[in-house]
Amino acid sequence: MSTANDELPLLVAQGLTKWYGRRLGCRDASFELYEGEVMAVVGESGSGKTTLLQLLSAQVEPSAGQILYRMRDGSTADLWSMSEPMRRFLFRTDWGYVHQDPKLGLRMGVSAGGNVGERLMAVGDRNYGAIRAAAADWLGRVEIPESRIDDTPRTYSGGMRQRLQIARNLVTAPRLIFMDEPTGGLDVSVQARLLDLLRRIVSEMRIAAIVVTHDLAVARLLSNRIMVMKDGKVIEHGLTDQVLDDPHEPYTQLLVSSILPA
Ligand SMILES: Nc1ncnc2c1ncn2[C@@H]1O[C@H](COP(=O)(O)OP(=O)(O)OP(=O)(O)O)[C@@H](O)[C@H]1O
Ligand SMILES: [Mg+2]
Repeated sequence: MSTANDELPLLVAQGLTKWYGRRLGCRDASFELYEGEVMAVVGESGSGKTTLLQLLSAQVEPSAGQILYRMRDGSTADLWSMSEPMRRFLFRTDWGYVHQDPKLGLRMGVSAGGNVGERLMAVGDRNYGAIRAAAADWLGRVEIPESRIDDTPRTYSGGMRQRLQIARNLVTAPRLIFMDEPTGGLDVSVQARLLDLLRRIVSEMRIAAIVVTHDLAVARLLSNRIMVMKDGKVIEHGLTDQVLDDPHEPYTQLLVSSILPA
């Protein structure tokens, strides 16, 4: 029996590889993520960022490699050795997944309160009053007026939808959150506010996060560590400030000097 579980990584990726037929999605990605750590994944379009995120969150089965996850009880589990219901349970409770397109992460015909409350019901909460109170609290935390709790996200702006998606994901106090371009497609001023909010919540709750972005400013603001991908491979990996201030790979140097199109 070990009591030093905090020193073990939350997530370990070993040689993660995904082929879509003969097309490479992601090749041989290996790294460790610790509790409370925020990692950014950057790289040009088609470099494999979303594939890696989907692999890590067990939405896509790897062609090779494995993912080890430290469960709440301290045991370590291989994601693809556990049962499908167990993986789904993790996805609904211990993890969050923020899609670039909030329509994919929300139920557009269900009220905002329902969208947040649904995640709580998935972990067994049945008390309507308590669920509604928690939903109202989370709407406040993501700066959505409580008066909008019974409206559906269809009536929300893009920025509000994205904040609602974040509330829905965080209400179960996940230990790990995956975010795919969380600020993509939003106005610059809305982006800045959302980033600020994300940074505050993630650090307050000490959630580990993997954030895909092609915006290095987002990576700089949110992450401790960064992985640079190109053609499905991780070509550079290190502390965010070090990689961005002193990139070693020529590709990263181009990315940092913004010569490459985002
Ligand atoms: N479902 C799929 N079927 C076939 N090929 C796919 C599929 N999803 C991704 N790919 C291919 O895998 C490679 C990596 O794609 P991926 O979507 O992971 O890139 P990305 O870095 O997220 O790009 P973007 O910044 O445009 O979102 C690309 O060559 C892509 O065409
Ligand atoms: Mg993508």
